[in-house]
Amino acid sequence: NWPASVTIKEVGPRDGLQNEKGIVKTEDKIAWINHLSQTGLQHIEITSFVNPKWIPALADALEVAQGITRVEGVTYSALVPNMRGLEGALQANLDEVAVFMSSTEMHNKKNINKSIDETFPVLKEVVDEALKAGKIVRGYLSTVFGCPYEGVTDVKQVVYVSEKLLEMGIHELSLGDTIGVANPRQVQEVLDVLLKTIPKDKLAMHFHDTRGTAMANVLASLEMGITTFDGALGGLGGCPYAPGASGNLATDDLLYMLHGMGIKTGVNSDKLLEAAQLIQSKIGRPLPSHALQAVSAV
Ligand code: HMG
Ligand code: MG
Repeated sequence: NWPASVTIKEVGPRDGLQNEKGIVKTEDKIAWINHLSQTGLQHIEITSFVNPKWIPALADALEVAQGITRVEGVTYSALVPNMRGLEGALQANLDEVAVFMSSTEMHNKKNINKSIDETFPVLKEVVDEALKAGKIVRGYLSTVFGCPYEGVTDVKQVVYVSEKLLEMGIHELSLGDTIGVANPRQVQEVLDVLLKTIPKDKLAMHFHDTRGTAMANVLASLEMGITTFDGALGGLGGCPYAPGASGNLATDDLLYMLHGMGIKTGVNSDKLLEAAQLIQSKIGRPLPSHALQAVSAV
């Protein structure tokens, strides 16, 4: 009983590039995002307005956000950790901002330098102000299935933080398997608990493919009624403050599977692969996605 259509949110320009050692030039990021805007993708997370000392690869957030050619019907989003970040996103007049925090104390501290309870008021102010400014607000919850510092995450903690974030007024919560440790059974067990109080259309899944389970986890989530998935083109990605975190689920692989199953996404596979080849050439090494390797081989 598969859904007729699925929404794909491309996070490559943000999650994909934040962990790259060699910094991609601003003009190349802009060219890539402009290419992505022509693929039929309706949501693109383009950068992060965070402290550039923490994430040097995205220090050009404002230039990127102001430099792209916006296409009607595409929602352009950026990560914002605090009011300073929101100001940048508002200056660039982005459509959507995404607040983020972790389900586990240690990862939250390492990633945004605060305890979980200290983070809530900071994000609440950002959400309030962003909504007042007429923006859409997304929330991310990291380390939902496991934490690089604390091991397997207690689902009670996931419920606690998820509900706090949703109460703030975010329109969607993206559940992050930050270090790619989840398996389909755990995904279904955690979703089973969350879906008791959270409507399924409020949830998105954000899988990293560190151990090769991301696509199986998508299938497990589809079976639970989830229809929004994050991906990064070519399988780029990872959180620099989560040791061992590697690439996101590759958007091009996800598209291959969904289209093969007859599930609509609105995204053009050929154009998406072209965009993957473009960023691969700028990064200068083969990217991990299977779909990209398959086209490169012919
Ligand atoms: P802090 O050091 O505690 O911040 O960092 P602070 O408020 O004490 O300020 C210290 C300095 O940072 C000041 O500058 C501020 O102006 C500056 P100084 O006076 O020292 O020159 N500052 C900023 N600069 C630019 N933009 C800002 C900003 N805020 C403060 N927005 C902070 C706290 C949150 C800023 C920092 O920890 C940070 O930037 N963290 C970002 C970490 C990050 O981006 N991680 C990756 C994204 S999350 C992820 O990948 C997971 C996800 O993909 C889902 C999943 O996979 O699970 C979403
Ligand atoms: Mg991520």
